[in-house]
Amino acid sequence: MGKVFAVVNQKGGVGKSTTAVNLAAYLGSRDKKVLCIDIDAQGNTTTGFGVKKKSVEYTAYDVLIGQARIQEAIVRTEFKNVSLVPANSALAGAEVEMVQLDDRMNRLKMQLLTCRLDYDYIFIDCPPSLSLITVNALVACDKLIIPMQAEFYALEGLSQLMETVKIVRSKYNPSLDIEGILFTMFDSRLNVSNQVVEEVEKYFPDKVFETKIPRNVRLSEAPSHGKPVMYYDKSSKGAEFYELLGLEILGEKAKPKEKRKLFGRKSK
Ligand SMILES: Nc1ncnc2c1ncn2[C@@H]1O[C@H](COP(=O)(O)OP(=O)(O)O)[C@@H](O)[C@H]1O
Ligand SMILES: [Mg+2]
Repeated sequence: MGKVFAVVNQKGGVGKSTTAVNLAAYLGSRDKKVLCIDIDAQGNTTTGFGVKKKSVEYTAYDVLIGQARIQEAIVRTEFKNVSLVPANSALAGAEVEMVQLDDRMNRLKMQLLTCRLDYDYIFIDCPPSLSLITVNALVACDKLIIPMQAEFYALEGLSQLMETVKIVRSKYNPSLDIEGILFTMFDSRLNVSNQVVEEVEKYFPDKVFETKIPRNVRLSEAPSHGKPVMYYDKSSKGAEFYELLGLEILGEKAKPKEKRKLFGRKSK
């Protein structure tokens, strides 16, 4: 049965969609069957895979509201082994409509139960809020991937998220746990970056991914070409670091020598 990750942080612009797209693409390239579920009305993951929001018949909105079965909403992307449940601005209205529905916390979970067997990994790309839609992801998933920037206020946001996780755990999803906290747009030369990592590691021992994603211009360019970075510029630092993250998820850590090579090399 596929492992379900929610990529979550109520702050916007921390690298959730970038992480969902690039991690999914890498695992797909490694012969894993992957499904990405875009549950953000901005649809950045949808665009990131080059799927035109206007061309799709059903979106995550229809799935959450119950107007479509998840199988009907899944589209193939042009990237190896990666399928997608797209999102568009219709999702912005879902929140209000869902409030009136029975079982509103479990809607994504129920839909996922019908397709989990078809995939090795499922990534849910969450919106930048702790809304009912995000709670649906927390209820439906096994583990959280929490991208964050190494900023002074990061810990505050993290403790707010953990409050919500605690509630979801006690009421709906007792085994909910953190897969890893992922530092993104990371600059190890900055003192503050290293201080924040230390602080987060103190509160969440063994929960911080060893891989820290550096700022890389190719990562920000790739979505405008509708491609994960590994298909846009295979030799970029962004592609290499998302590969390292993928290896961590697979439990196949890169050999220390390979890692030194990556950290030491100059790259675009
Ligand atoms: N490691 C990175 N280096 C450079 N730009 C990045 C990196 N990660 C994300 N970005 C860019 O930062 C912006 C926010 O990232 P995004 O993944 O959309 O965040 P979120 O989904 O959390 O809102 C996007 O324009 C994205 O292309
Ligand atoms: Mg996003």
